[in-house]
Amino acid sequence: MKKILGHLLLLSLANLCFSLPLSTRSRWIVDDHSRARVKLACTNWAAHLEPMLAEGLDKKPVDHIATHVKEMGYNCVRLTWATYMFTRYATTTVAQSFRSLELHEAADGIARNNPGFLNLTVVDAQRAVVEELVRKGLMVVLDNHVSQPMWCCGDHDGNGFFGDENFDANEWLHGLEIVAKRYKHTPMVVGMSMRNELRGTLQNSSVWYKYVQKGARTIHKANPNLLVIVSGLHYDLSFEFLKQKPLKKIFKNKLVFEFHRYAFSTGQRNLWLTQPFHTACDRITREIEKEAGFLIKGENAAPLFASEFGIKQVEMGRVERLFLGCFVGYLAEMDLDWSVWALQGGYYIRDGVRGLDETYGMLDSDWSSIRNPDFHQQLQLIQHKIQEPNSKGPTYQILYHPLSGRCIHANNSEVEVGDCLGFSEWSHDENGHSIQLIGTELCLSTNGKGKAVTLSEDCNSRESRWELVSNTKFQVANRDANGDYLCLEWDPNNSSRVVANKCFCLEQDASINCLHSPQTQWFKLISGNVR
Ligand SMILES: *[C@@H]1O[C@H](CO)[C@@H](O)[C@H](O)[C@H]1NC(C)=O
Ligand SMILES: *[C@@H]1O[C@H](CO)[C@@H](O)[C@H](O)[C@H]1NC(C)=O
Repeated sequence: MKKILGHLLLLSLANLCFSLPLSTRSRWIVDDHSRARVKLACTNWAAHLEPMLAEGLDKKPVDHIATHVKEMGYNCVRLTWATYMFTRYATTTVAQSFRSLELHEAADGIARNNPGFLNLTVVDAQRAVVEELVRKGLMVVLDNHVSQPMWCCGDHDGNGFFGDENFDANEWLHGLEIVAKRYKHTPMVVGMSMRNELRGTLQNSSVWYKYVQKGARTIHKANPNLLVIVSGLHYDLSFEFLKQKPLKKIFKNKLVFEFHRYAFSTGQRNLWLTQPFHTACDRITREIEKEAGFLIKGENAAPLFASEFGIKQVEMGRVERLFLGCFVGYLAEMDLDWSVWALQGGYYIRDGVRGLDETYGMLDSDWSSIRNPDFHQQLQLIQHKIQEPNSKGPTYQILYHPLSGRCIHANNSEVEVGDCLGFSEWSHDENGHSIQLIGTELCLSTNGKGKAVTLSEDCNSRESRWELVSNTKFQVANRDANGDYLCLEWDPNNSSRVVANKCFCLEQDASINCLHSPQTQWFKLISGNVR
């Protein structure tokens, strides 16, 4: 049975080497030399608030923070910036900025942890942060987050759309040009997000076309190496207007779209409280497809970067857990590029509050450890390339439990749930057929209700036939001798064993039992071909 272990795929090497600059090829971001895919797996690092400095430099030396990012498995940082940092405050030093905001304690912290930063101008401080990330082998996407340095985003904050009080289009273009030029000789700065979360009462798709094209040309002219990343309307939820009128190919192979999604997006929190999870998830997934997911398909296909999503990680409730499971499942299935909100454990000052904790932060408020290891685990599979357009190998399936971010492994004749650094490759060619361990004659088989699922050599038996059931295909089921469905089930709180059990809630059923129970049966088959 040694052979089976050989089929555990070690993903950790998947993203190590690539050549720059990056460009696009249909829906993929690819490297320069072999045109192999480079998947962005980023974390957002805020640096656009009033102090105009990457957060956390009062807590830890910048190289510690960059090392932490790397060790958590990211290959890139989406670093935010504000236009006025470059167009109005370029000569302001970090010390002056903190003094004017009376952030004396934070300034003392910077003096202790990053003494070199206080005398730098805010724009040179940005460069110093970028250079440290690059030294650690991390790619950087520079995200124009706001014009005026401040927390973002509201409908009436004056930074939402071209023509708003603090959103002069020419000043914005000027800022893009300065920043694009500044990093011309830093190839690991691979892209620029043109503007974060367009929004507010002035939103208008013809104005969007006009300025997005200008912005893209400005960036490309200043620095033709960069990926140009374009945001949609309504807080970066929607690109539906592109269905009627696709964005003209402004230039070859550099255009990427970005969208955002949170549990609270478009007031949908309630959905998770009133609908069974698979109904809610199905609805949200369809909505994402309609508003943004369509961009990776068809003749105008371009990469789609899920450049913000995240959850409140403390006292995580039902809504957060289910939203995240659903969304991570979608990211895995589509194998999108992504960036989680956010790295920072807290802020120098946000909304007037000094030292505010970031409950969405991957790091805790001391910037010393991972805030929520379960959430961190949940991102493990998607940190790696799952699909590769250059791959010659056949497609396999990963049996994935998106709520926990864990994968099913074959271990001798047993199957168990473990982390996703090494997962087993399965083939399941048709609904109702076997789920076979690739490279072997072994198939997943039931041994009756409540019993462990094992591997069997009889791939044609009734016990080895599996279908995706429930209206949204989130459960993997075998029909027993009585014609009843038994579903794959894993209880994250109780061993790594996978059993077969009566399927929960196969019909659309909004009963209270259904709201709470079937998460242990939530599996997805994720297609991959990376070897
Ligand atoms: C910053 O500049 C001031 C004034 O030029 C100088 O006195 C101070 O030593 C400098 N601090 C650091 C850490 O370089
Ligand atoms: C959008 O802007 C264009 C050009 O400025 C204008 O003609 C059109 O009426 C606007 N549409 C809406 C819905 O405001």
